[in-house]
Amino acid sequence: MKVIHCKSYEEMSDAAAKIMEEQIAKKPDSVLGLATGSTPVGLYAALRRDYAAGKVDFSKVTTVNLDEYCGLAGDHPQSYRFFMQDNLFDHVNVRPDHTFVPVGTAKDLDAEAKRYEKLVASLGYADLQLLGVGPNGHIGFNEPAEELFLETHVAPLTETTIRANARFFNSEDEVPKRALSMGMGTIFAARRIMLLANGAAKREAIKALLTKDTVDTKCPVTLLHLHQDVTVICDDEAWPL
Ligand code: GLP
Repeated sequence: MKVIHCKSYEEMSDAAAKIMEEQIAKKPDSVLGLATGSTPVGLYAALRRDYAAGKVDFSKVTTVNLDEYCGLAGDHPQSYRFFMQDNLFDHVNVRPDHTFVPVGTAKDLDAEAKRYEKLVASLGYADLQLLGVGPNGHIGFNEPAEELFLETHVAPLTETTIRANARFFNSEDEVPKRALSMGMGTIFAARRIMLLANGAAKREAIKALLTKDTVDTKCPVTLLHLHQDVTVICDDEAWPL
């Protein structure tokens, strides 16, 4: 595991943008696994900046997002589809029909999970998968549990995550209680994984990842030890050592 300790959020975001842009330069038709949340906002801003400066070309890129809230349509401001349009897709030259996010309003959510898993598999999984981490160590919406799902599935959110994500909604009651999420197998099929973490709220999860020599399904991020190409990029507040 490669670990990059950055001084600031801006430095973390720029380091992540550099890795993503190098990936696209090396393989213009890369499949990028993307994440949402407050963590990658700076990364997406850096990609927009570099696209405007002619430094990166998304015309052949395909994107697959990690997760989506159940019940939220793509035009809902808190949906992850909306987030992606707003933060990246609407500002760069990625083909709209090459951007994929699970459909949270599907009538049959289990069927949607299966369809999405097949889709990601048919694309050959991600060349580079971006991850954030929940304060409780979740990745995507793979929440701490005795057992973790391998494939894309309907995931109940834990109370901690509902509380943590309530800051984006008017109240805790409005936070969807379930999400569609790639499973650990979907994520781990990526050739390379880049995990970003900033802020003191992430320190415990990063500490578990960097200091333990065991893996624990009750802290899903620790399973990253089992992947052979992981880069962790932390700002100073999240740095646990
Ligand atoms: C959310 C998402 C994750 C994200 C994490 C951290 O619930 N499902 O994909 O990485 O929580 O969010 P944030 O970056 O806002 O701290």
